[in-house]
Amino acid sequence: MGLQSPAVARVKDQLPGLRSRELFSRWERVEAQCTGYQARVAWDQASGVVVTDVDGNTFLDWTSGVLVTNVGHCHPHLVKAVQAACTRLMNNYECLNEPRVEAAEKLVAILPEHLDKCFFLSTGSEAVEAAIRVMKRKTGRFEIISFHGGFHGRTYAALSAGGLAGPKKGYGPTVPGSIRVPFPYCYRCPFRASPENCDLLCLDYLDDAVRANSTDSLAGVMVEAYLGAAGFIFAPPGWFPRLEQWIRSRGLLFALDEVQSSFGRTGKLFAMEWEGLTPDVVCLGKGIASGIPASAIAARGEVLAALGQGEMSSTMGGNPVSCAAVVAVIEIIQREKLHENALRIGQLMKSRLLQIMETSPYVGDVRGVGLVMGVELVKDKRSREPAPDLTRKLIDVAAQNGLLIGSVGIFGNVIRVAPPLVISEAEAHESLDIFEKSLALL
Ligand SMILES: Cc1ncc(COP(=O)(O)O)c(C=O)c1O
Repeated sequence: MGLQSPAVARVKDQLPGLRSRELFSRWERVEAQCTGYQARVAWDQASGVVVTDVDGNTFLDWTSGVLVTNVGHCHPHLVKAVQAACTRLMNNYECLNEPRVEAAEKLVAILPEHLDKCFFLSTGSEAVEAAIRVMKRKTGRFEIISFHGGFHGRTYAALSAGGLAGPKKGYGPTVPGSIRVPFPYCYRCPFRASPENCDLLCLDYLDDAVRANSTDSLAGVMVEAYLGAAGFIFAPPGWFPRLEQWIRSRGLLFALDEVQSSFGRTGKLFAMEWEGLTPDVVCLGKGIASGIPASAIAARGEVLAALGQGEMSSTMGGNPVSCAAVVAVIEIIQREKLHENALRIGQLMKSRLLQIMETSPYVGDVRGVGLVMGVELVKDKRSREPAPDLTRKLIDVAAQNGLLIGSVGIFGNVIRVAPPLVISEAEAHESLDIFEKSLALL
C-alpha cells in the first residue's frame, strides 16, 4: 500500500498497473529477458527527479537511469539543444561538424589542465576499450593491472579488466595480460584489516601481484574512481594518491574510469579532483550527455598522439546530436552549479541515511559522497552476511510507495542512492521518508 499522501510520489494501486502489465507481457514475447532486477514499473515520462509510469503513478527517482541523467530527466535546455541539432544534421561519421568542435572545446575547458585532448565515442565500454588501446599503443606492452570488483563494461577488453565474475562467467578465457588486484573494500577487507590501522596494506600487495603475474610487459593501470557495480565502494583517503605514486614509480600509464563518477556526480565535476589525481587517460560516459548516447576519452595530447591517422573511429562517436547534448549538459551543470547541489544535498541525505543505519537491523553500511551513495543490506549486522533477497524485496516495496531504487554489489545487496543532481531538499526528504518507511515494511 502507498504511504500517507506524499508531496510528489503517488502510487494509486498495486504495481504493476493494468497498462504496465500489458506492456510487460508484450515485451516478454519479443525481447530477450536478460537484464537485471528492476521494479515492475513501465516508465512513460520523467522530468527532473520525478518519473511517471504508463498508469499515471508518480515516483521519485534514485537511479538517474543508471547514473545517466545527471542534469535531471528531460532538462528543457538539453531537450531544446537536441531537437535543434536533429533538424540540422544527425550523422556525418568522421567528417567535421561544428557541435563536435564545440563539445570538445567545452569538455577540455572543464577538465583538469593536463588533459588537453579528447575523442568522442558512444558508450562507456567503448571509452574503456579505447583507453586500453591507447595504453597498449603508447607503451608497446600489453599487460593491464585492474581491480577486484571493478566494472568497466561488457565488451571484451573491458570485461577482462573487470573484477566481477558475473559478466565473465561462461564466456571462455578473457584477454591475456589482465592482472587483477584487490580494491580497498574496507567493509569487507580481504586482508581482515581496518582502514584506521592498515597503512593501506592492499597497495603493498601490488608488488607481490606484479612479481607473481607480470611477464615484464606492463602497460598501465585501469581503475574506477570508486567501484560502481561492485557496490559503490570508495577507497579510503590517501589510497589513490599512493596508487598514482606507485604507477609513476613503475613508469606505467594511469587510466581512470570516470564513466559514472564524472559530470558532478560526486560533488566535483570529476572525481579525480578530490585528491588532485593526474591520470594519463580518463574514460567518460553516462552523465556526459545525460541520456543521449555519448562517451569520450580524455588524455594528455602527447599520449593520444600514439594513435596515428585511421587508428580510432566509431560510427556514432562525435555525431552532431550527441555533441550538441554534451555542450548543453556542460552549460547546465555550470549554470545551475549542479556539482555544488550534489555535494550539499548529498551531505543532507548521507546524514539521514546514517541515522537510518543506527535504527535499521538491515543497514550494515552507508558510504559515498555527493549524490552517489551505497546502502549495504545485511541479514545480521554482526556477521555482515549479505541480504540480496531483502534488497530485491526493498526495490519492490519502495516502488510501491513511490521511490525508484536499484541495486548493485558483488553480492547484489547494495541500494544505489543516485538521484539526478537537480534534486531539491524537499524531494530529498520525501524520498528518504519513503525509503525509511519501506525498510520498516520489510
Ligand atoms: C565505471 C563504468 N565503466 C564503464 C561502464 C560501461 O558503460 P556502458 O554500459 O555505457 O558501455 C559502466 C557502466 O555501468 C561503468 O559503470
